[in-house]
Amino acid sequence: MDRLLTENTDQEVIVLEKFIINGGNRLTGEVEISGAKNAAVAIIPAVILADEPCTLENVPSINDVAIDLRILRELGAEIKFVNKSTITIDPRPIRDMPVPYELARSMRASYYFLATLLSRFKHAQVPMPGGCDLGDRPMDQHLKCFRSLGAKCSIEHGIVDIRADFLFGTQIYFDKVSVGATINAMLAAVKAEGLTILENAAKEPHIVDLANFLNSMGADIMGAGTDVIKIKGVNRLHGAEYSIIPDQIEAGTFMIAVAATKGDALIKNVIPKHLEPITSKLRKIGVVVMEYDDSIRVIGQGKYDRITVKTMPHPGFPTDMQPQLTALLTLAKGTSIITEGIWDNRFRYADELRRMGADISVDGKVAVIEGVDHLTGAPVKATDLRAGAALIIAGLSTEGTTEIEDIYHIERGYDNMDGKLRAMGADIVKRTVSENIRQAI
Ligand code: UD1
Repeated sequence: MDRLLTENTDQEVIVLEKFIINGGNRLTGEVEISGAKNAAVAIIPAVILADEPCTLENVPSINDVAIDLRILRELGAEIKFVNKSTITIDPRPIRDMPVPYELARSMRASYYFLATLLSRFKHAQVPMPGGCDLGDRPMDQHLKCFRSLGAKCSIEHGIVDIRADFLFGTQIYFDKVSVGATINAMLAAVKAEGLTILENAAKEPHIVDLANFLNSMGADIMGAGTDVIKIKGVNRLHGAEYSIIPDQIEAGTFMIAVAATKGDALIKNVIPKHLEPITSKLRKIGVVVMEYDDSIRVIGQGKYDRITVKTMPHPGFPTDMQPQLTALLTLAKGTSIITEGIWDNRFRYADELRRMGADISVDGKVAVIEGVDHLTGAPVKATDLRAGAALIIAGLSTEGTTEIEDIYHIERGYDNMDGKLRAMGADIVKRTVSENIRQAI
């Protein structure tokens, strides 16, 4: 069942949304990629560290960003939209208060408020975060870095509570490469006393983007993008104007969608270097990819070759592209093998692709995909954000009608996905159904 939002009027109504895809159309023309979700959800809470307003450009219109902005508003920040993708945030009126439970629970990245509220108020209370269900998502490395910097941390009644009168620079070795823990460590250390050295840090493009944003506010961070990041604490961070990088995963998703429909399209507003882990695999199976300064042209072919891929931290093949690649390989020649190297349970969508006729067997973290001649449209459910993107790709590449439920997952992280696909020739519509839930009770 879809569940997006409820509205209280004199009747209680639940609004259900689905994507309906009539597949088989080639994707052509061009598409403009939005700002990066995973950079935006780190940079927006980072504004709390400034003592002046900040203006952010290239902010994607996605639900995770909307939730971040609602949290900031609840805390007291003043937010103005300059245009659809540019916002000014004044963090000065923010009050020392817990992050509201329901908002924190609805996304993973709410845990970045831990570091930023701690740095500003010496104290933070943030409910345990939500986000996609990809298996166990521990926070031990986050707590390890807060403790190393001098904070006391506890988790009680579902709330993470951290406090520290002073944060001191330190050396932190991450036992596991973690995007979230690297970001939280940078955010907590940027105004700590002295030098912090992060070792075995994550290297994703959005880590570099966050470091660039913080440096533009007066921070002193070196080495972001390598596995050793050095942060010299500063006393204050001033306001800044900053443009968020393009979304590597949204671009990769469109690359695969074009390839899957045997289309030919230009993907604009990208950083081709960030896409190399994806581009190299697509070229290997026979997709034509041409790189320009800030765009990429993808030309799809008839049948693709099989491949063996393991997802790895950057610069390896991103786990967030794994479901979309699997969808493409369901129609490739021969047997492909995909190993998930980051998460324990990221193949739940395989059941949904099987409904469409895919031949996938999953054993733990390994999926074996036997290419089939064709898929058939079917009613399916998005089990998480990138799984939802994979189902869209499968639906676009097959004749017949695919109905995707639970699209709220997709809208957490893709900016106007259906509109962008329609402009490229896809037959995809969003259908909204309202139900009076009082009748059901
Ligand atoms: C981020 C992305 C997510 C992406 C993932 C991997 C955001 C908001 N989310 O998630 O879309 O799928 O990177 O690229 O940016 N781990 C621990 N202890 C910790 C933290 C993580 O053991 O304290 C483990 C996790 O279980 C996982 C691995 O480290 O096996 C990577 O997790 P991490 O990089 O932290 O992922 P997220 O930051 O949650």
